[in-house]
Amino acid sequence: MAKEINTIGVLTSGGDAPGMNAAIRAVVRTAIAHGKKVKGVMRGYQGLLDEEIIDMGKHSVSDIIQKGGTILGTARCDDFRTAEGQKRGADICHKHGIDGLVVIGGDGSFQGAQKLAHLGVNTIGVPGTIDLDIACTDYTIGFDTAVNTAMEAIDKVRDTSTSHERCSIIEVMGRHAGYIALWCGLANGAEDILLPERYSHDEQKIINHIIDSRKIGKKHHLIINAEGIGHSTSMAKRIEAATGMETRATILGHMQRGGSPTCKDRVYASIMGAYAVDALVAGKSSRVVAYKHGEYIDFDIDEALAMRKDISEYDYNISKVLAR
Ligand code: ADP
Ligand code: F6P
Repeated sequence: MAKEINTIGVLTSGGDAPGMNAAIRAVVRTAIAHGKKVKGVMRGYQGLLDEEIIDMGKHSVSDIIQKGGTILGTARCDDFRTAEGQKRGADICHKHGIDGLVVIGGDGSFQGAQKLAHLGVNTIGVPGTIDLDIACTDYTIGFDTAVNTAMEAIDKVRDTSTSHERCSIIEVMGRHAGYIALWCGLANGAEDILLPERYSHDEQKIINHIIDSRKIGKKHHLIINAEGIGHSTSMAKRIEAATGMETRATILGHMQRGGSPTCKDRVYASIMGAYAVDALVAGKSSRVVAYKHGEYIDFDIDEALAMRKDISEYDYNISKVLAR
């Protein structure tokens, strides 16, 4: 029989994502509903190692569900990648009586949670990243807000692109994952979508596509480029020189990570945060919350981290058909 959990800690780690606050709120309020104490760990694993730990009550999460960012702050912490840092982190959890910890973040943060679990701290991961690149789950907190923010910005670029009959390269976030680029490409009706998972580095193909589109009377040419491919500004110069079509690059950057979360992000974050606490209270540890085939479930953290996912070939092909 697992030891009863009395105090639940919560932290946010890695890149922030809209909806993280809704998840924190759900963790705190569900834990309190179970009669547990709650401690907030500030600034991810960095704050854990610096012992920036606060008591949290029902009202410490008032008025945050609609806010972007994370009230706990977040960080990337190299010390926590070391065995010494992880051991110190586990000791600090024990010292503060944290016997269950909810880690809201991406794959990297889950690896930290996995190490803490192996050192005797009960941990549950909640997927929070705008990149949608966590293999075990169909949904990650923040993706919906980020793609909607990017989509609205791209619509605006499209307007001016059409007026001036220009080509526009719009760079969206995603260093290793092209989900934001693919979704925006589909939603904004882009002529070309460049994904880190698929890019052939064949610029001539894009140039030919622009020339062909001009011949059939298209007034603009939108290219959604993922951050992982990058080089949008130099690409724009080369495309303009080769096609004679004025070309501009717009890099959307961190605006995609901020802003008030959409309804979908708030609701999924609320349920996933509550689910994580229910799992800890039920004696589970070393698990990751996921949304798969229409259901909330949990996976063993080692299994979750070993899973792989890829862009849907079908969706990618459709995007090409629709752009013709
Ligand atoms: P994300 O969680 O969004 O994927 P990162 O990959 O930057 O973001 O990871 C967030 C933090 O998680 C890192 O700064 C580090 O502190 C911790 N982390 C990442 N990988 C590991 C690892 N292999 N072992 C322990 N901690 C890790
Ligand atoms: O993981 C989310 C993300 O926004 C990625 O899309 C991007 O590559 C990275 O974080 C940027 O990180 P930073 O905030 O350190 O610039």
